[in-house]
Amino acid sequence: MPELEVDGVGTFDVEEGKRLVLAIEEDAKVDIMHACGSYAKCTTCRVEFLEGEPEDMTEAEMIILDMRDLLEKARLSCQIYLDHDMKVRPLMTVSGTDANDPGAKPMEEITPEPEWIERPY
Ligand code: FES
Repeated sequence: MPELEVDGVGTFDVEEGKRLVLAIEEDAKVDIMHACGSYAKCTTCRVEFLEGEPEDMTEAEMIILDMRDLLEKARLSCQIYLDHDMKVRPLMTVSGTDANDPGAKPMEEITPEPEWIERPY
């Protein structure tokens, strides 16, 4: 079981292959945002990687991070499967914003259908 460490919150054993946004929300109990329902459209599920940043990313993640000038600064937790130990810092939470809710519940599989590419940095 991979370990997820959420900075300032704790360390959690998480079912291998779980979507990172769901692990942060359900296992670490952090009220992370996922305003677009986890379709790589909003970037509110963004996290900063402190350890274990994946070498690959979905093409959808790369495109929106680049458009928002977030490439190399943040990753989208909705576009990552937790398949090894990771340490992250969530950057947008319901309690830290004016939002009333985190957004529609993400599906268990990455959406949209992932096209995997190598991290370009
Ligand atoms: S980009 Fe919207 S939830 Fe991940």
